Amino acid sequence: MKNILVTGGCGFIGANFVRLILQQLSDIRLINLDKLTYAGNLENLRDLEDDSRYRFVKGDICDAELLTQLFAEEQIDTVVHFAAESHVDRSITGPAEFIQTNINGTFALLETTRAAWLGEGQDAATKRFLHVSTDEVYGSLGATGLFTETTAYDPRSPYSASKAASDHLVSAYSHTYGLPILMTNCSNNYGPYQFPEKLVPLIINNALNGKDLPVYGDGKNIRDWLFVEDHCRAILTVLQDGSLGETYNVGGNSEKQNIDVVRTICDILDEKTAPLASGEPRQSLIRFVQDRAGHDRRYAIDASKIKADLGWEPTLQFEEGIRLTVDWYLQNSDWVSSVLDGSYQEYYEKMYGSNN
Ligand code: NAD
Ligand code: DAU
Repeated sequence: MKNILVTGGCGFIGANFVRLILQQLSDIRLINLDKLTYAGNLENLRDLEDDSRYRFVKGDICDAELLTQLFAEEQIDTVVHFAAESHVDRSITGPAEFIQTNINGTFALLETTRAAWLGEGQDAATKRFLHVSTDEVYGSLGATGLFTETTAYDPRSPYSASKAASDHLVSAYSHTYGLPILMTNCSNNYGPYQFPEKLVPLIINNALNGKDLPVYGDGKNIRDWLFVEDHCRAILTVLQDGSLGETYNVGGNSEKQNIDVVRTICDILDEKTAPLASGEPRQSLIRFVQDRAGHDRRYAIDASKIKADLGWEPTLQFEEGIRLTVDWYLQNSDWVSSVLDGSYQEYYEKMYGSNN
């Protein structure tokens, strides 16, 4: 592993991963290819700009010509593929971008990688293509049970369907062409640099500013929460030690109902910051709003394979991780303002109205 192409490195998990890998491995070159959509921000990695091991390239993973050029120029031997449209609500209101980036973009990346690594005279044995995916491909659970690596795919939103399609393409390139792939399917991440449209940062930001806290449906949907740095460590572990062609489920052993996540954030903010002007506790801002269409009820991951085979497990429980996350958002209010530009306000007002 010497010349690593990270796609989507300016997004939430990608940025945390780029930081981790540059800290952990000295003798590498890292090329971060990112289109800088609303979710990708150069601010996330501004302090790395002077690191001679790091190169940022603004570009689209659907651009086969650019990909081919990068593979040749940089002699890429490792790909870690994060780039995607990632927000379920946006996939419901506008699925086209999800099909384009998540399916066609992954296809373009696979084709370029195949041409570069499996051509005449190439040795693919030491190369690695790691596809970062989600537990949402497995569908929705009832009150019991866990997703394992052999759970049948049953994606139910345009987002998860597009990720499932990309997973199948990646597997097909392994089975058909022998592309050296690895795959991770992870549960809900939270932590620094998450765009404030996802539940945790949205609630932190709104609660801080005395705005309504929208909770979909009855608030009893369950997600399994994992601190983003633990996820990034899992990806690095799989990259270094995972068995070729294998999938690893990654999760936090931390199932929570959404309403409990929201209440916890409110309580931490009440404890750490000035009270609301009304004098009410922040839980008074909670509003139960119309449910997400096709809202998956429960996700829960069985992460025993990655623990047994590679020795990875989460280091932080939700109760600790959420406090670190709230602290980060309190200390980085400038980052929040800088990423919430006009296009985001327009989207938010369409979702929730303009009286917030
Ligand atoms: P994100 O939305 O924060 O970041 C996505 C990044 O990809 C952005 O920097 C964006 O600019 C870039 N991008 C989008 N389209 C692109 C394109 N066509 N070409 C190049 N770059 C493009 O996403 P995230 O939450 O960091 O998720 C990263 C990956 O991890 C995704 O593949 C997602 O499916 C997966 N994942 C996310 C979670 C989670 O909880 N966030 C959990 C499991 C898996
Ligand atoms: O499970 C992994 C997935 O987790 C990733 O693949 C996705 O990229 C990531 O966005 C996340 O998907 P979710 O839909 O679970 O995350 P989100 O933060 O959008 O929502 C978490 C839960 O909170 C979900 O049940 C919907 C609910 N919710 C969300 C928002 C934004 C609310 O109740 N109110 C909100 O305002």
